[in-house]
Amino acid sequence: MFATVLCLPLLVLSQTAAAAPSFEAKCLTFKPEKYIDGVIRNVLQFVTAGTTLTFPDNDATCNRANQAVTTDLCRVALSIETSEISNIIFEAWFPENWSGRFLATDNGGIDGCIKFEDLSYGAAHGFATVGANNGKNGTSGLAFYNNPETVIDFAWRSLHTSVETGKTLSKKLYDEKYTKSYYLGCSLGGRQGIKSAEKFPSDFDGIVAGAPGVDFNNLVSWRAWFYTITGSKTGPDFIPTTAWKTWIHDEVLRQCDTIDKVKDGIIEDPALCKFNPTTLLCSRNSTTNCLNQNQVQQLKTIFSDYRYPDGHLIFPAMQPGSEINAVDRLYAGAPFSYSDDWFKYVIYRNPLWNASTFGFEATRIADYLNPGDIRTYPSELPKFERRGGKLLMYHGQQDNQITAFNANRFYEHLRGRRSYNSMGKWTRFFRVSGMFHCNTGPGAWVLGQGGNAAQDGIAYDRQHNVLKAMVDWVEKGVAPEAIEGTKFMNDTVSLGVDFTRRHCKFPARNTYIGGDYKKTSSWKCR
Ligand SMILES: *[C@@H]1O[C@H](CO)[C@@H](O)[C@H](O)[C@H]1NC(C)=O
Ligand SMILES: *[C@@H]1O[C@H](CO)[C@@H](O)[C@H](O)[C@H]1NC(C)=O
Ligand SMILES: *[C@@H]1O[C@H](CO)[C@@H](O)[C@H](O)[C@H]1NC(C)=O
Ligand SMILES: *[C@@H]1O[C@H](CO)[C@@H](O)[C@H](O)[C@H]1NC(C)=O
Ligand SMILES: *[C@@H]1O[C@H](CO)[C@@H](O)[C@H](O)[C@H]1NC(C)=O
Repeated sequence: MFATVLCLPLLVLSQTAAAAPSFEAKCLTFKPEKYIDGVIRNVLQFVTAGTTLTFPDNDATCNRANQAVTTDLCRVALSIETSEISNIIFEAWFPENWSGRFLATDNGGIDGCIKFEDLSYGAAHGFATVGANNGKNGTSGLAFYNNPETVIDFAWRSLHTSVETGKTLSKKLYDEKYTKSYYLGCSLGGRQGIKSAEKFPSDFDGIVAGAPGVDFNNLVSWRAWFYTITGSKTGPDFIPTTAWKTWIHDEVLRQCDTIDKVKDGIIEDPALCKFNPTTLLCSRNSTTNCLNQNQVQQLKTIFSDYRYPDGHLIFPAMQPGSEINAVDRLYAGAPFSYSDDWFKYVIYRNPLWNASTFGFEATRIADYLNPGDIRTYPSELPKFERRGGKLLMYHGQQDNQITAFNANRFYEHLRGRRSYNSMGKWTRFFRVSGMFHCNTGPGAWVLGQGGNAAQDGIAYDRQHNVLKAMVDWVEKGVAPEAIEGTKFMNDTVSLGVDFTRRHCKFPARNTYIGGDYKKTSSWKCR
């Protein structure tokens, strides 16, 4: 009796195995180089759930030495030529339990770092997921020096190449074309997604673009500008980091936290905060935790738009509330590395360029040169829109690296004269209160945006997860009205949820209507 029970399933198993090779066997005999020109295969492996992959060759500055994998998948890693003198490093993670969907992941900063955590996240949710190093390795900009092909890879070609490669390989491996194609990215990655809608409108059906670094040339200049405002760390008027993080931030909150009627350390809409730093001016009565005249002027400048002398806008002001983290890099009294490298190696091609000489001329030249056509500031995306593409933007309202006001400006630029309703048919923008750059912060910031962002603690549904919200928008026509973010106690999933808050679709503003402010029902989008 035992024998019959045991034998039957074994028999069935071996019959199916004879009829079709297992996914593992297909993976291990796969020949990616047969289908793509100019590639070298670096890795081909079947990876089982529970494995921690290590990446010994990965540039140390990427700080990604290993990655846990949570679903069985076929991993393909290639070097792909993008010109005679440039290449990208490409990864495709093909899950055995494939949903039929395709996903491309992003890069940050001026980095050449593959986001293995997002490859894992995508694969775990059934996407055939690709990522690439954006044309170079590591966080330094030196690889751009006298190498315009690498700049082109960085501006758009790496992503497009990996999308085309990934789609081709996925069809060959699964014997079936993907159903829908998605993109998930933030920061530089938000820009990559929007650039792709502009230049390759059929690459994606749905693009999730967080904190997009759009108007990139002016963004680089805006970030270079701060060093010329704060001066060096050793200068007489330099404002120490601790001042920003404690009593300056406290004064911002004192002036602006309760505009939204709730004292929770979160400025729901920083556009309503007209921070006045003169209250911090030292006087006979106030001699500690105060600023001198020049320092007050620094704050006024930082919280003002960056404009040419004729008034023409270069980049909008930093939003108040972000100083607690912005000081770590932008107001740290040292050149901001991403901008510094960009001017040294791309704009001036002079490694000795001095960041304290930055000014309007450098700003003008950077915008004029627009290296690799990296600007990314479309006023319309007609082809992407016409083919039914959907764009979901979000931006942390305490962003410490790209002012959230730039996303408001970009949304309006893209909208032009249309109504919000007509715009909302294909592009929606959610302002995420209390979130720093792409993740973390005092607000309800966990929204399925990828990264090591505690994504597993929240439900994978369209209410809580931006990626799933996009899938349902594209495939079911259900457009997201709001995204409900989650704040875990001490940002630790195992400690449980501290609170949740809905983030409204622009231009609606989250408005407190009474009750426990930690409940979503105490707020309404208006
Ligand atoms: C495969 O993925 C689907 C959702 O994409 C999930 O519901 C199902 O449980 C998964 N199956 C296995 C065997 O993991
Ligand atoms: C990046 O590193 C890989 C080895 O991991 C190498 O093959 C590739 O050429 C490097 N890319 C550049 C632009 O140096
Ligand atoms: C200083 O304090 C005195 C007495 O409290 C007050 O009259 C005066 O207005 C204060 N001056 C300033 C500049 O705040
Ligand atoms: C950079 O330029 C500033 C202002 O012109 C000058 O004071 C400083 O000495 C320069 N630094 C270097 C390293 O050349
Ligand atoms: C959260 O972190 C704070 C500060 O580190 C600590 O005092 C508190 O006990 C932590 N809460 C929990 C529930 O662990």
